[in-house]
This record gives sequence, structure tokens and C-alpha cells, in this order.
Amino acid sequence: MKKNLETQKVQFTETVLRDSNQSLIATRLPYSKFADILPTMDKAGYYSVECWGGAVFDVCLRFLDEDPWQRLRNMRKAMPNTKLQMLLRGQNLLGYKHYPDEIVKMFVEKSVENGIDIIRIFDALNDLRNIEVATTAAIKAGATVSGTLSFTQSPVHTLEAFAKQAKEMENMGVATICVKDMAGVMTPHEAYELIGAIKSEVKLPVVLHTHCTTGMAFMTYLKAIEAGVDVIDTATSCFSGGTSQPATETLNYALKQLGYETGLNDDALKEVNDYFKPIRDGYLKDGTLNPKMMATDTDALNYKVPGGMLSNLVSQLKAQNAMDKFEEVLIETPKVRADLGYPPLVTPMSQMVGVQATNNVLSGERYKNISKEVKAYCRGEYGTSPAPIDPEVMKKALGDEKPIEGRYADTLEPIFEKTKAELEGTAKNDEDVLSYILFPQVTEKYFAARKAKEEKIVKYTIEPIEE
Ligand code: CO
Repeated sequence: MKKNLETQKVQFTETVLRDSNQSLIATRLPYSKFADILPTMDKAGYYSVECWGGAVFDVCLRFLDEDPWQRLRNMRKAMPNTKLQMLLRGQNLLGYKHYPDEIVKMFVEKSVENGIDIIRIFDALNDLRNIEVATTAAIKAGATVSGTLSFTQSPVHTLEAFAKQAKEMENMGVATICVKDMAGVMTPHEAYELIGAIKSEVKLPVVLHTHCTTGMAFMTYLKAIEAGVDVIDTATSCFSGGTSQPATETLNYALKQLGYETGLNDDALKEVNDYFKPIRDGYLKDGTLNPKMMATDTDALNYKVPGGMLSNLVSQLKAQNAMDKFEEVLIETPKVRADLGYPPLVTPMSQMVGVQATNNVLSGERYKNISKEVKAYCRGEYGTSPAPIDPEVMKKALGDEKPIEGRYADTLEPIFEKTKAELEGTAKNDEDVLSYILFPQVTEKYFAARKAKEEKIVKYTIEPIEE
């Protein structure tokens, strides 16, 4: 039989250890719950396992009493044959503000040293100056960098603009281009056009990331694959759907039948899903997993506002006893976004735009109250807006003050050595210092808990000898 050399390969990134559990159960999956399935996952044939970064780091320290670096080393040891992948928010790393270049470089180096293979690097505004330092450091450290475009719809986010950015990232030396549709609003048509546009501009493999939120994802992936996408993000089926990714086994089954090569091991995939099913059921039972998160919600399509942002708006308005203003705020939100130069509605922009829209409606006068964050945004502290900010808004936010020129991170002083000295006796290594720099209060609490635990162990091991 003649071998079909034209067989298209579609590879899979499994997200259950990061985005899937972040989207469904706020990243509350402790290492102990999934440790036993890692050797099976290691045999499944995934392109990569997304398992670190995003909210994992913060939640480990804040809620799970786990050292995120130790978790990474454990996963590395348990999955020696699989590429471990993390998500990194450029100059913000895994935190919520910009860090000095020194910290960005060190954090990236340490991530690779502790076991990361692939770093997906993005910036909320698609300002490439915010991903440049992390990208260069990651390449130097030997990681595979996936240069990432934050997908959004607006008059300035054209196919040409995205393709041009992909080209610029290729020139920066990234190994793959990832299109990140964090809100799950990309339609099959848009995926087909966009992946095609990027594919004709760059020679690199292209990865697509989306969520099932609005019900588009399976169709979107299929059209993206027709346009030549190389890798898709999916979650083991019991942790798929709703705000999570589409199901791994479903896409594997359908694509194989269509003649695509996936490289996945069906038996391993089943074992992985069988393992996570009772874990999912446990979270449903104790309320950690709200069944609504697994359902389709098309509001994001009607309002052009991501699902997570809608629920934030509702809780904001409820807290101020102003739910009667909901429709008005929803109409105001895209207007604020346009005034601010169409930032993609992703953290932290989604919060900024939502709060400003609420303020504009509740105060009865647009931009009467401007938040500290929006002022910082107008000053250029987050990077360059996709389109120019409305001059009126700019004037109201900054008065006579001029926006900064150049990159905000250039104004930040090195802090590592100073912080390390401050933590002498508490931090055990440079990784500890980095955890503290990213999340000071949370890490301090974690250090205290760790110390208490260690003292208890010492006491316990000493006492029997004394008896
Ligand atoms: Co996502």
C-alpha cells in the first residue's frame, strides 16, 4: 500500500494540570491528588503537558501549602519523557505587576533549571517589548519559546496586524507561535482565516489555545486544523468543556478517523481520564466545582465581554446594590475599551475596563472617577495600547503629566540581592527569594507554615530518643 506522505500531524497539549483545573476549580488541585497518574501521562504521547505558570504558582503558596518549585521538580522526575510547559505573562511573570529585567531573567532561568521545557510567553497588550527579555532569557536557558498572541476582536486587531506580530516574534527567535483565545470567543471562521494568515507569514509551527465557554471550541479547532494548525490545547474529558478546553479523547478519536496523525496512545488517554473522574466527582460533591462552569454560556458572544468578566461585573454591581444598572454597564464596557485603545479583555485589562465602565455609569458622568490602574495604563506603565487612547480620556487621567517614554521596566531598580539579604535565615535558596518577590505576603505566610511544620517534625523525631 502506498504510504500517504501528506498525512497531516496534529499534536496535543494536555491542560488538566494547569488551565483546565484553573478554569474549572480555581487551580485547587494539590500535587498529592495527581502524582500517581504522572507515569501514565508520561506515556500518552502528548506534544506537551501544560503544568506550571498561570495561577499554579500563586495558588500553591496561597492555598495549597505547597512549594511550587518542588511541585515542578516532582513533575519533572515523574515525567522524564514529556515536555513540561508553563504559561508566563511576559514582564509580569506570574504576578500582577512589572518586574525588573534582572528578576525576569532569573525567574526564567530557574524555571528551566527546575524542569520546564516549553515557555508560552504572552503580554496582555501584545506589546512585544514586554515579552522580549523573557524570550531572550528562555532561549538562552535552552527552553522552547512559544511566542503568544493574545486574541481579541476589534477594528485594530486585523489579520494583517496579528500576522505581522507573528513575524516579529519569529524574528525574536521563538520556536512556535501560539494564538491564545483566553475568552473562548474565537469563531471557526476567524480561526480558519487567522491561522491561514499566520501560516503564510511565518514558517514556524502554530499552536491554538481556546476554551469551550461559548461552545465554539471543537468547531474552531477543526477549522484551524484545516488551515494547518500544528498543536491544539485540550483537557482529559472529565475535566473538559465549559470554561475549560475541549476533550482530548474526543478530538483524538475524530481526528484519527479523518486521517490525521495525533501520536496519542488511546489506552493511556483512557487511564488518565479514569483516574481523574473520581477526583472531578469529589470536587462536584464538595462544591469546589460548580456544574455551571462545565456548561455552555453564549453571553460572551452577545455582549463581547468574556465570561469571567461578566461574573465580576455582576458581583461588583450587586455589592453596590446597583443591579438595575447592569444593561447600562454592559453597553458602556465596549465604549470604555474603545476609549482605552482596544486592549484585549484579559487580566489585568478586563478588571480595569470593567471597573471604569461601572464607575462611568454609577457616578453619572463618564471618567469623573478614574482608577489608579487606568491612570497607570494611560501613563504607559503596562505598555503601548493597541490603538491610541482617546485624547479626552488621556487628559482627564493624566492632566498635564506626560506618559512615560520607552519601557516601564527600564525605570525599575534591581531588587534581588537586597531581598535576598532581607530574607537571610528564612529563604533556603534563590527560588524562595523569587517566590517572595512575586508574592510577598503569601510567601511569608508559606515560610511561617513551613517552619512550623519542620519544627514539628524535629520535635517528633527527637522525642522518642529522649524517652
Ligand atoms: Co486559557
